[in-house]
Amino acid sequence: MSHKNPPYSRILGTGSFLPPNRLTNADLAAQLAKDGVETSDEWIVGRTGIHARHFAAPGVTASDLALPAARAALEAAGVAASEIDLIIVATSTPDMVFPSTACLLQHKLGIAGGAAFDLQAVCSGFIYALSVADSMIKTGAATKALVIGAEVFSRILDFKDRTTCVLFGDGAGAVVLGASQTPGILATDLHADGSHAGILCVPGTVSGGLVLGSPLLTMDGQAVFKLAVGVLEKTARAVLDKAGLTDADIDWLIPHQANLRIMHSTAKKLKLPLDKLIVTVDQHGNTSAASIPLALDHAVRGGQVKPGDTVMLEGVGGGFTWGAVLLNF
Ligand code: ACO
Repeated sequence: MSHKNPPYSRILGTGSFLPPNRLTNADLAAQLAKDGVETSDEWIVGRTGIHARHFAAPGVTASDLALPAARAALEAAGVAASEIDLIIVATSTPDMVFPSTACLLQHKLGIAGGAAFDLQAVCSGFIYALSVADSMIKTGAATKALVIGAEVFSRILDFKDRTTCVLFGDGAGAVVLGASQTPGILATDLHADGSHAGILCVPGTVSGGLVLGSPLLTMDGQAVFKLAVGVLEKTARAVLDKAGLTDADIDWLIPHQANLRIMHSTAKKLKLPLDKLIVTVDQHGNTSAASIPLALDHAVRGGQVKPGDTVMLEGVGGGFTWGAVLLNF
């Protein structure tokens, strides 16, 4: 690394967007009942902590949700779109096979010329994207990045499978990450283990003009639960070690918003009181790669996360993938 490269990257602003169509558990249960699928508010709240989720209207894509989130983050950062030289969109529900959602978003923002690409790490996508952007900024490959998680998970849900379709929602969250002389991102930690690919996947693909295999999400919930609880603790400890900090230094824990029981268990293992845990899964459901930046933006705009706070972001998702980012906000 040349001495000219900035020592750190830091978040300059956050933004998010939820599509307006909000469904409570009762709304969703009524909709599913028409197809003979039984569920209840009591079951969903008791097992997951989810009360409501937002679904994008037909035809609305991930880049459509990413655009207002990106604009809000740029405004909060006081950065013009023309200053952005890197866009990374973490998504498992891209607008099309190609070009990338990031390229489509770049054009919608009215800019051109910087690097833009999608990153696929399912629910860990934002953590991966933030780590990659941090590295690119530190090596001088970029100076101001838009890092986004954007998902229309409703497009890949099997509404005949009550064990999965009640869990997810649509949305987008964004941050502007910029080169900085002060920290910033303190440490990152990324992992994957492809041997668990089968417990959470959309196994289909397109080939020869056909969809081969199922284009809908399938999950072994209990296997995912067990794996998630273990790796979330490990990656949190690893990133604290790398930064030379301890549990006691964490002001806010913002884990992937999949299930309140997993989140409570992670907070407990890190000996964090629950009032340091940011929770949006109750209102958003699991928005996959969008869940962490959405929760971060809500916590910033809600006055919880303040400049100077030490924030632990951590994700886990299909792949299996997992990781954490520890930062000074
Ligand atoms: N409504 C009513 N009943 C239901 C529903 C539903 N929506 N879904 C399942 N049930 C029933 C089942 O049929 C079963 O009934 P039975 O005992 O008569 O067979 C019963 O509820 C228990 O089902 P389980 O699958 O054993 O329920 P469990 O306690 O494991 O909870 C859940 C399921 C919520 C999916 C849990 O396993 C979980 O949270 N896993 C983690 C998965 C997760 O968070 N995934 C998010 C994606 S992964 C990620 O983002 C990293």
